[in-house]
Amino acid sequence: MSHKLIVGNWKMNGGLSANQTLLDEIKAGLGAVRCRAGVCVPHPYLAQVQLLLAGTPIALGAQDVSIHASGAYTGEVSASMLRDFGVRYCIVGHSERRQYHRETEVEVALKVKQALACGITPIVCVGETLVQRDAGETEAVVKRQLAAVIHENGHCISEIVVAYEPVWAIGTGRTATPEQAQAVHAVLRAQLKAATPHHERVAILYGGSMNAANAAELLAQPDVDGGLIGGAALKAADFLTILRAASR
Ligand code: 13P
Repeated sequence: MSHKLIVGNWKMNGGLSANQTLLDEIKAGLGAVRCRAGVCVPHPYLAQVQLLLAGTPIALGAQDVSIHASGAYTGEVSASMLRDFGVRYCIVGHSERRQYHRETEVEVALKVKQALACGITPIVCVGETLVQRDAGETEAVVKRQLAAVIHENGHCISEIVVAYEPVWAIGTGRTATPEQAQAVHAVLRAQLKAATPHHERVAILYGGSMNAANAAELLAQPDVDGGLIGGAALKAADFLTILRAASR
């Protein structure tokens, strides 16, 4: 039994009929899939996808959560609201939110806290930009991003999932090599080990142009526990190929 975890991040894609078609096709092909799986969908589709996933082994996920529990925060969605729809995973601190919405490390850490308080597993994204990689700052950047989350969440830290997503590999078709991914995953693993005796519970996913062709060799790395999949999660055949690669 593989314990790898493959999560689709649909980002701002989909629609009522497209979601139904995609999930019908994925469900029809799940036969040989043995890994853990989830899909993180836009908030308006949580109710629809909750119904479509009922009785399947695919978990429901969201893409963001408020730092607040409730109150006068127009447009925000709380962790308890996500919980109402059976949400199991919530992506937190995706680079697109850090970049386009100026999400800070402190906010990311507070979002993780809200998710954990409602029994939702946060998928905490970390990753360096190309400028940072070229400057030799990769390790320092990802460690700082994860440290902020560890600092705020203490002994609960073993309940998170981490996703290493190099910004330069997201949506670019340029994937980290298996060796590049493994090197950063090993750094994150060591950091988690120092933070909690239960570090083995924490899955570290790779994300950034993971696709049907390159998933197997990335997933073969010792510290790559799964994948966070963008574009390839919107095509049933590709997502199924990745799920099968993770099931070996
Ligand atoms: P792509 O797989 O489209 O590069 O996106 C990766 C990602 O950002 C997943 O969260």
